[in-house]
Amino acid sequence: MSEQELRPGLADVPVAESAISFIDGKRARLEYRGVAVEMLARESCFEETCWLLVKGTLPTQRELASFDDQLRHHRRIKYKLKDLIKCLPETGHPMDALQASVAAMGMFYPSRDVSNVQSNWEAVIRLIAKLPTVVAAFHRLRFGDEAISPRDDLDHAANFYWMLFEREPSPAVRKVLDACLILHAEHTMNASTFSGRVTASTLANPYTVISSAIGTLTGPLHGGANEEVLDMLDEIGSSENVRRWLEDAVAGKKKIMGFGHRVYKVKDPRATVLQELAEHVFAETSRPKLYELAVELERVAAGILGPKGIYPNVDFYSGIVYNALGIPRDLFTPIFAIARVAGWLAHWLEQLQNNRIFRPEQVYVGKHDVPYVPLEKRP
Ligand code: CMC
Repeated sequence: MSEQELRPGLADVPVAESAISFIDGKRARLEYRGVAVEMLARESCFEETCWLLVKGTLPTQRELASFDDQLRHHRRIKYKLKDLIKCLPETGHPMDALQASVAAMGMFYPSRDVSNVQSNWEAVIRLIAKLPTVVAAFHRLRFGDEAISPRDDLDHAANFYWMLFEREPSPAVRKVLDACLILHAEHTMNASTFSGRVTASTLANPYTVISSAIGTLTGPLHGGANEEVLDMLDEIGSSENVRRWLEDAVAGKKKIMGFGHRVYKVKDPRATVLQELAEHVFAETSRPKLYELAVELERVAAGILGPKGIYPNVDFYSGIVYNALGIPRDLFTPIFAIARVAGWLAHWLEQLQNNRIFRPEQVYVGKHDVPYVPLEKRP
């Protein structure tokens, strides 16, 4: 490969054929298996969306009931895993705790033979079902509280809320949390999905695949942005400061968190749905100041960044919604992972169908024929 062909960040370079999701970045269109994500966020539930992504079609009533039942019965985590979580530093980031726990799960549930359809399916169920339990357990244990056991009578979103706060969400809060999970469940060949597919291509076990994807999601240019959006809004402080702050930030070539996307050159459709959902939650909790500030930032940024095709992405409003639900900032990215595990698993299974190990090229820019000088002759 010649130097001219190098595409930093693999921009526009296809790395796999995929039938899982589709983005039209100019028309603000996102589909999971052909179904518009807005429809799913409004009409579906996270459990059904998981099935759609992993299996390829919407489930029958019986399939969904059975899948939901399996998920509810696999939410508990082993005592030893809980002990392991207890031993992690309480000051550590919950994403690191999640990555370590998922990697460890591979030792509790051996599944090294990835040609085994049955054990692969068990891994799909376990990973979707247990991630919320791990996140909630770490969150409780780090503050010296007891972990709260999952409840089989609650759906995925409501149970996660229960395990965090030991109270049930209102119907509006349950709906918004469920929709957030749907909106984050899959997004074509993003960095964490690619990372998971690279790991999958070595035929590593599914827990290793997902833990590598979780590690990739942690970075502020990817899933970590939702946390940084709130820090940024705190820094701006009030609506009157927005224009000056933004102009200074753009002049200083600072990245505005929650804005911009490799594929979308218009407002991310997930941000639009999230904003609608946020309005529903705020009908219960009152409109937070941070939200007013975010709306003003979006308005001013449309004039400054809009001409470059830079608009709010999914992370811009998700943090504000979670914040209004009383969820701590460092759990925002773990919630992204709890949702995205569905897409990662769909990509893992797709990669296995027609696998070839990823082994790309590089453009070598180093030296050649460097003489070896013995240590005693070096200064
Ligand atoms: N604020 C200011 N300028 C921006 C931004 C932004 N958020 N995003 C892109 N640009 C500018 C960038 O400076 C560059 O300008 P120029 O051509 O003058 O040098 C141009 O737009 C192209 O940017 P890029 O960084 O080369 O674009 P990319 O496709 O490599 O990066 C991105 C995409 C999402 C990493 C980037 O937009 C970004 O860093 N955004 C902020 C972080 C963020 O919100 N991440 C969440 C992404 S969505 C959810 C997820 O995937 O996790």
